[in-house]
Amino acid sequence: MKISIFGLGYVGAVSCACLPELGHEVIGVDTNPLKVRMINDGQSPVVEEGINELIACAVQAGRLSATEDLEAAIMGSEVSLISVATPSKPNYEPDLTAVDAVIESIGRVLAKKPGAHTVVLRSTVAPGTTQDRLQPLLERAAGRKVGDRLSLVFNPEFLREGSSVKDFHQPPQTVIGSVDPEGYAVLEAMYQGLPGAFVRTDCKVAESVKYLCNVFHAMKIVFANEAGSVLKACGLDGREVMKIFCQDTQLNISPAYLRPGFAFGGSCLPKEVKGFLTLARDRDVAVPAVAGLLDSNEAHVKTAYRLIARDGRRRVALFGLAFKPGTDDMRDSPLVALAEQLLGKGFEMRIFDRNVKLSRLLGKNKEFVEREIPHLDRLLLDSPEAVLDQAEIIVIGHADAEARKAIVSRAKDKRIVDLSGYAELRDCGAQYEGICW
Ligand SMILES: NC(=O)c1ccc[n+]([C@@H]2O[C@H](COP(=O)([O-])OP(=O)(O)OC[C@H]3O[C@@H](n4cnc5c(N)ncnc54)[C@H](O)[C@@H]3O)[C@@H](O)[C@H]2O)c1
Repeated sequence: MKISIFGLGYVGAVSCACLPELGHEVIGVDTNPLKVRMINDGQSPVVEEGINELIACAVQAGRLSATEDLEAAIMGSEVSLISVATPSKPNYEPDLTAVDAVIESIGRVLAKKPGAHTVVLRSTVAPGTTQDRLQPLLERAAGRKVGDRLSLVFNPEFLREGSSVKDFHQPPQTVIGSVDPEGYAVLEAMYQGLPGAFVRTDCKVAESVKYLCNVFHAMKIVFANEAGSVLKACGLDGREVMKIFCQDTQLNISPAYLRPGFAFGGSCLPKEVKGFLTLARDRDVAVPAVAGLLDSNEAHVKTAYRLIARDGRRRVALFGLAFKPGTDDMRDSPLVALAEQLLGKGFEMRIFDRNVKLSRLLGKNKEFVEREIPHLDRLLLDSPEAVLDQAEIIVIGHADAEARKAIVSRAKDKRIVDLSGYAELRDCGAQYEGICW
């Protein structure tokens, strides 16, 4: 393929170095004449392990050159990658000045180019930018629509500075968000030969994945540092603890707990978070990220309350009271907190939780229920049907298969607020809304 690359910074320079290795012919474009000259001299404009050799080799083989002449680069290529900077504005939105300018320039040249062309954004941008902002800009300037010999793709870059050449050859996955179907095929052909899965999705999802990756990586670093600081204050080596911590690939380094849904609760998580905060406070160690967990969790319960209260319906059927499915444990259950908020605001409520009801009958949780939540106990009914009867709004904390069947058959004309994400509830004829979807 003939590929033009706009922006010869950390991202663009690595693409210039590595794409020729896959058999492509690359032409780099930058507004900075020094970077253009460096590439043409076979030197890398950025410091990265292994990059100088690759650039020198590609230039020598006639597979890489650079120019300030944007028009020549577009006319001489079939794919354009955009990797110009998107620095933060004072309000921390990404500044899209350079991206907009490149998109419009590409569009103006494409207006004169009859052949097919694929435009690929690699710069990091907020969800919606490619389709809502750049697509109209590009189409207006090019005088044709995406789909008409024109593809528009968002393909996030997951390279880490310092190991980016290695990362290019070992991508965790290649995420391709395309406005038109042809865009996927072009990118898959461009990256052919690299390991890792190709993931086809839409642009907004691809943009979001990139944002979340960086936020998550930042959260991991902060967590490790806060944990390490408290452990050091306790006379321990945080590195040793984290090493063993990371060996748990079932619950720690895994997708566990990474499904958007309702708040955490139960007899362990809130207690241990509070215990850890006390440990830190007693040793004068600041742990602002861990300290924020409880506030965030409470805010999530309030979000659920606002969602329920929003449209004025007052008769609620609440499914689930224990802190998660499969248990009768209601200690620190966020569903108990939600039920109490609703009751406090005068909602009428009936509750179904098979495990809680059963354990109550068996006398297991009797003491807790009578001592802690006698006001909720009288609202617990024996069957899903009895709870649904008269309800205007169904709130799903969690529900077993039998209860879900009853909900699906009686949900018509009611409103469902789903805090858990059961697939069959989405299209059962109710007015459906999920807490994070
Ligand atoms: N640096 C990373 O490790 C990394 C990793 C993944 C994603 N990203 C994202 O990729 C994008 C680029 O990052 P970077 O670190 O390579 O940026 P950078 O600042 O190193 O490079 C940007 C380049 O774009 C050039 N440029 C600006 N306007 C131009 C124009 N109109 N035409 C041609 N070139 C122009 C600049 O001269 C500069 O050389 C950003 O959105 C960044 O968030 C960066």
